[in-house]
Amino acid sequence: MTDSSDTQKPGGSNAMWGGRFSAGPDAIMEAINASIGFDQRMAAQDIAGSRAHAAMLGATGILEASDVEVIREGLLTVLSEIEAGDFPFSSALEDIHMNVEARLKDIIGEPAGRLHTGRSRNDQVATDFKLWVRDQFDACETGLQALIRALLDQAEAGADWVMPGFTHLQTAQPVTWGHHMMAYVEMFGRDLSRVRDARARMNTSPLGAAALAGTSFPIDRHMTAEALGFDAPAANSLDAVSDRDFALEFLSTASICAMHLSRFAEELVIWSSAQFRFVTLSDRFSTGSSIMPQKKNPDAAELIRAKVGRIFGANTALMMVMKGLPLAYSKDMQEDKEQVFDAADNLMLALAAMTGMVTDMTANRDSLAAAAGSGFSTATDLADWLVRVLGLPFRDAHHITGSLVALAESKGCDLPDLSLDEMKSAHDGITQGVFDVLGVENSVNSRTSYGGTAPAQVRAQVARWKELMA
Ligand code: ARG
Repeated sequence: MTDSSDTQKPGGSNAMWGGRFSAGPDAIMEAINASIGFDQRMAAQDIAGSRAHAAMLGATGILEASDVEVIREGLLTVLSEIEAGDFPFSSALEDIHMNVEARLKDIIGEPAGRLHTGRSRNDQVATDFKLWVRDQFDACETGLQALIRALLDQAEAGADWVMPGFTHLQTAQPVTWGHHMMAYVEMFGRDLSRVRDARARMNTSPLGAAALAGTSFPIDRHMTAEALGFDAPAANSLDAVSDRDFALEFLSTASICAMHLSRFAEELVIWSSAQFRFVTLSDRFSTGSSIMPQKKNPDAAELIRAKVGRIFGANTALMMVMKGLPLAYSKDMQEDKEQVFDAADNLMLALAAMTGMVTDMTANRDSLAAAAGSGFSTATDLADWLVRVLGLPFRDAHHITGSLVALAESKGCDLPDLSLDEMKSAHDGITQGVFDVLGVENSVNSRTSYGGTAPAQVRAQVARWKELMA
């Protein structure tokens, strides 16, 4: 940051808005007021907005064509300086909007002062921020698509690999690896649809709403909207400058997505433990311990699990900033950006890390299969057999099965290890046929209801998603 001397009028007040001021700001005022430390991330968007605005001012005859051309070239020079990393950002100039304009004035002189005709920093910041957030929605869409594709590959490879399904993290019923992967495809698929919805809803242009009331200059807001890739100009100038729903929708969508990521990350942490051994994570996405040589830690999964904290925190923080703000713009709204920047950076990183882990991980089929058959996982199949073959009411079947589970438990064996006589001790109608349903393969193959875990159902869902993702 440069010091403020060249940006102040003689007498010390701000060259951009200091007409009525006789003194410059206190250092503390400057420190609390400046946003350039973070909003310089919107430089490209700010210059794109200014270029669209300048072109429109020319097309509508509000500015001379010669001025517009000088402004256009000057803005490109400013952009190249920023991209090259040798732009003199100044906190005395508060924010990216005034930094760019002041530099433009250094380069092209007087015409720079005409650029701000028919606009305000209020519509400018809303426009810049919307463009930035829109890019994040797009990046999020790409990131989610990559993750879904990686999950589909896992699901397709392991459509018929058996594993335990859990409720309460207690063995419940056997499921297939592919089915479990596809559960996350559904979750991230909903995230994808939320991203697309929100992006479509936010795509209106605040530019030309000016400070709050519109402008008396004959501007063409449709032209600037189109130039910036918006679907239309925002229809109410008061709303246009004070709306941050797009940022909140980004953060809430990001929060739900991060929550999904954290659930999967938690499963990977559990699954990669020596006690479970369901998966082996690749070396590329694991770390070692500096003291315990045997360790391979799932740090990426743990960090992904944690990211939801700051992302949801950002959502809460911005909700609180916006709550109770009267129309239209208030400086409170400058507190929107850091939250969104941090959440976006971390969500993109978490999505990329999860995609890498999923692509690289190996499911340990033997461990999965062994675990699938333990814990009386086919008890429901036994109860269902009693209903289907012997015609018992389900409640009675449940009770009889429970007694057989207790018997197996007391003998230290699993249900298929009981003898037919032992089975008959619980209900003498039981026949040898019952053993057919006690195998895990049989169990998963039988669950052919729509959306069920049977490999055929899983393959059908993989095919449906592949088509959706094509
Ligand atoms: N830096 C400000 C922000 O981020 C830009 C808008 C300032 N507008 C104003 N009237 N002070 O919100």
